[in-house]
Amino acid sequence: MNINILKTYNWGILAPGNIARKFSTELQQLHNARICAVGSRNAERSKEFADQFGVKRYYDNYEGLASDPDVDIIYIASPHSFHAEHALLCLSHNKPILCEKALALNQSEVEKMIDCAHLNNVFFMEAFFVPHQPSYQRARQMIASAELGKVKYIHGWFGFNKSPYNNSLRLMNPALGGGALLDIGLYPVFDMLYFLGEPEKITAQAEFAETGVDQSISVRFDYGNGVTASIFASFVAACGVGTDIYCEQGILRLRRTSATDQWIEIVRPGDKTTSISWENSACGLKLEAAEAMVCMDDNLLQSSIMPHSMSLSLIKTLDKIRAEAGIVYHGRD
Ligand SMILES: NC(=O)c1ccc[n+]([C@@H]2O[C@H](COP(=O)([O-])OP(=O)(O)OC[C@H]3O[C@@H](n4cnc5c(N)ncnc54)[C@H](OP(=O)(O)O)[C@@H]3O)[C@@H](O)[C@H]2O)c1
Repeated sequence: MNINILKTYNWGILAPGNIARKFSTELQQLHNARICAVGSRNAERSKEFADQFGVKRYYDNYEGLASDPDVDIIYIASPHSFHAEHALLCLSHNKPILCEKALALNQSEVEKMIDCAHLNNVFFMEAFFVPHQPSYQRARQMIASAELGKVKYIHGWFGFNKSPYNNSLRLMNPALGGGALLDIGLYPVFDMLYFLGEPEKITAQAEFAETGVDQSISVRFDYGNGVTASIFASFVAACGVGTDIYCEQGILRLRRTSATDQWIEIVRPGDKTTSISWENSACGLKLEAAEAMVCMDDNLLQSSIMPHSMSLSLIKTLDKIRAEAGIVYHGRD
């Protein structure tokens, strides 16, 4: 990885769950990043995380972390139904933020978060690892240069099956922002926006779980010029994750099994398929952390790789899909 970060940054970790642990493991690989403090709702969980990652300060609440004067930037990893509340708490203490996806439950919450970051003059970025990855940047260059001709159709999918589910946990619980669209469907949705922009028309259909969240979602994007895209995401179909971009002269396939294991394949009918892969050292969640620090080195309030406009475009599109498919978060629509 060849990213030049000038200053050293003290990170605070808010909500030490699954992804916070993965993120922190990668953060420790960046020489300019130190995990300085952690905040959990529970003292034992906070200490356990602090012991695991060698962190000196641990709080049994989020306010303590948000107001710690030594913390330079906070990574928010609570369930998405709490992102807006936790981001506004940290921003009220003028803390720069890297906040997990889905950035919030709806567009109006995201707008409030971005407005507050502007008002307080602090850096704010959605922790969406995809556009930071070399595979996506290479694919975008190939599409822009029309190496395979124009894009005609994209198919993106993300699915796993961990049944039987515990309905009180994050994935199936509407109070925690559960549902396939906001948890995993937003990845293929992002891909369509990244490669084609916002569509003219969206049609969508959901299959609902007994808790009322969408356990599967199918979406079709129509770009009005013969170009279309389709998206599928599911908690009950073990289909993995991928995106196929069908172009006039061939297919570009994007694949990963995790953030640190990704490759692209370039398929030209009649030719040998070309494959390019990236290893752990060149990809992963650490790239979004590094980008946040590079932006802060330059006193920027947002990243050009994952700008506020992209987060807004994503949540606006997710709102439209939810309206089409009848996916609701009561009182938060
Ligand atoms: N970028 C990625 O690849 C990726 C992957 C997975 C998840 N995510 C995102 O990261 C966020 C967290 O996901 P996760 O899988 O890490 O979830 P998780 O394991 O359930 O952890 C979430 C943490 O949030 C805190 N929390 C605060 N209020 C809570 C509440 N009412 N109920 C439950 N937990 C609460 C808990 O920590 P304390 O109680 O200790 O404070 C909990 O450990 C989600 O928004 C998800 O979409 C991103």
